[in-house]
Amino acid sequence: MRTINELAAQETLRGRPAGFDVERVRQDFPILRQQVHGKPLVYLDSAATSQKPQVVIDAVTRYYQAENSNVHRGIHLLSERATELFEDARAKVARFLNASDAREIIFVRGATEGINLVAQSYGKMSLKAGDEIIISAMEHHSNIVPWQILCQETGAALRVIPINDDGELLMDEFKKLLNARTRLVSVVHVSNALGTINPVKQIIEMAHSHGVPVVIDGAQAAPHLSVDVRALDCDFYVLSGHKLFAPTGIGIVFGKAHLLEAMPPYQGGGDMILSVTFERTLYNVVPFKFEAGTPHIAGAIGLGAAIDYLTEVGLDKIAAYERGLLAHATDALAAIPGLRIIGTAKEKAGILSFVLDGVHPHDIGTILDQDGIAIRTGHHCAQPVLQRFGVPATARASLAFYNTREEIDALARAIHKVTTLFG
Ligand code: ALA
Repeated sequence: MRTINELAAQETLRGRPAGFDVERVRQDFPILRQQVHGKPLVYLDSAATSQKPQVVIDAVTRYYQAENSNVHRGIHLLSERATELFEDARAKVARFLNASDAREIIFVRGATEGINLVAQSYGKMSLKAGDEIIISAMEHHSNIVPWQILCQETGAALRVIPINDDGELLMDEFKKLLNARTRLVSVVHVSNALGTINPVKQIIEMAHSHGVPVVIDGAQAAPHLSVDVRALDCDFYVLSGHKLFAPTGIGIVFGKAHLLEAMPPYQGGGDMILSVTFERTLYNVVPFKFEAGTPHIAGAIGLGAAIDYLTEVGLDKIAAYERGLLAHATDALAAIPGLRIIGTAKEKAGILSFVLDGVHPHDIGTILDQDGIAIRTGHHCAQPVLQRFGVPATARASLAFYNTREEIDALARAIHKVTTLFG
């Protein structure tokens, strides 16, 4: 007789981990009930932005209906309530990432703004001409351009970890790049274009052995894996709420407290000060020093609600379910003649980039849309990595835990149809 663990493992292999009911989960996402071009919506573009569960929509609505007020400013009841909800959301993010203190969580617009904050504050404070920053060949533009700007401003140089044909980092090359001039490493946790899950713990250990701090772009990781910033020992971790089933326009930077305390403000304005005269300004304490102006209060509250929801569903169950779904999708797509998957790393999250012989990715996307299937086509804001694979664009199906095997089968059928139309 098989043990419960063996049965659970078997179910996980089939993409149905014990205790995870995808039909039940789908009911929490009202947008998934709609039809597109007369067909049931098959939403496979969660890497671009995820859908929102009703509890997140309700939390945002309730805030505007009953709690709307500015934070950290008023002594009236509504302002106190809004402040409490906003700071509760910060505490939820801290627990979600296992940060040791809520002060280590800064609210920003998203991962992009998070990286810009680290570059313009920590980077400008620490880098000078001749220093080096290491990134990887699979970065999103948001983890390339802010460092290029910083290099132009400081005279530092950018170094790039190459990847193999499966889309995995060449760790030996990384080792060679680390040297006495390296001041910072910034790498993506999960690639948005390839799906590769990078060995970030090992990267951090290697960088730290040279005394180099590490920034992790977690925008595509946080929706799929549980992230523990203390276990990783990363110095900065950024993520976007809208990929994490929360509203757009909200994200966070985790930073180790001692680094944040030493860093200068990123922007000036209200709330980031203790006192201002025309001669001199005293800055506020961390994290408020980095939050100039009225923040996206509703977004932060929505992010807190999304985190509560994900915690209830369980990120480990989500990861197990998505592993099964990805395996099913990889088999289904690999069986299509003329289809090439771009990104075949051993460790992957639910992202499938592909090209089809003789068919432009935009045509694939347009035909799939007619069948109600939403995917992204183009360079995915990661042009250098597509150049590495010799393609200007791909079609990309990206999964979330509300997707089903039936939706993957619909995707495969629709791609087959494209091949016959262009065959
Ligand atoms: N970075 C997002 C994507 O990969 C927008 O689609």
